[in-house]
Amino acid sequence: MQKGLRGLIQLVEVWKAYPNEVIALREINLKIDRGDFVFVVGPSGAGKSTLIRLLYREDVATRGQVLVHGKNVARLRHSSIPLLRRTIGVIFQDFKLLPDRSAHDNVAFALEVTEAPRREIKRRVPAVLELVGLKDRARAFPHELSGGEQQRVAIARAIVNGPSILVADEPTGNLDPDTSWGIMNLLQTLNRNGATIIMATHAKTIVNAMKKRVVAMDHGRIIRDQAQGVYAHEVN
Ligand SMILES: Nc1ncnc2c1ncn2[C@@H]1O[C@H](COP(=O)(O)OP(=O)(O)O)[C@@H](O)[C@H]1O
Ligand SMILES: [Mg+2]
Repeated sequence: MQKGLRGLIQLVEVWKAYPNEVIALREINLKIDRGDFVFVVGPSGAGKSTLIRLLYREDVATRGQVLVHGKNVARLRHSSIPLLRRTIGVIFQDFKLLPDRSAHDNVAFALEVTEAPRREIKRRVPAVLELVGLKDRARAFPHELSGGEQQRVAIARAIVNGPSILVADEPTGNLDPDTSWGIMNLLQTLNRNGATIIMATHAKTIVNAMKKRVVAMDHGRIIRDQAQGVYAHEVN
């Protein structure tokens, strides 16, 4: 198969069963191209987080293939997993910042683990903090930042290695509506600058307003995949 034909991300007949015999994903076929912005929606327990965790190989499929950049991530050697993770930035609902490090140092940490040279760290950390609108908060610790600011730090950390893919699992789940829009505008900007974005969310208003591709899940299946979609056809 030619490289371009595969898409940036492709799931082929993917199933995921957990050891407790819960089947979290059933027969998932999904292709995501470079530059896409995809919302993954569906009720709690639908399988959204499981799907996202397979992409950055936090977990592996029970059956089927998960291809990222044309590579089956389940077949990666352990030594190659850090390389995959550098091409995928991950953003969580609860930010997952290190509480004893400043905003600057939280972002720097993502570069330190890749053994980036000090001079690169000095250059890139302030640049991404500026990009997310936190230039003046670099020295603040997470507990001194609002939820929206903490999420911006987390986004800075996710993008500092220059990933081509950003996955976000309910990134606005802990934020009020105004703050959520600030985060969505930032994600939109990153998408316009070339990042492919996959975001699991319950934020109906945001999904309906942004008119991006919507992949709707229920009981582990994709029940709808719609360009310029809306949050729900299935309910209401
Ligand atoms: N680590 C796990 N071990 C066992 N079952 C899990 C685990 N994670 C999720 N599940 C189950 O898998 C199903 C899908 O969960 P999840 O992917 O978290 O859905 P969503 O993010 O859409 O709420 C649920 O039934 C959930 O209870
Ligand atoms: Mg979830």
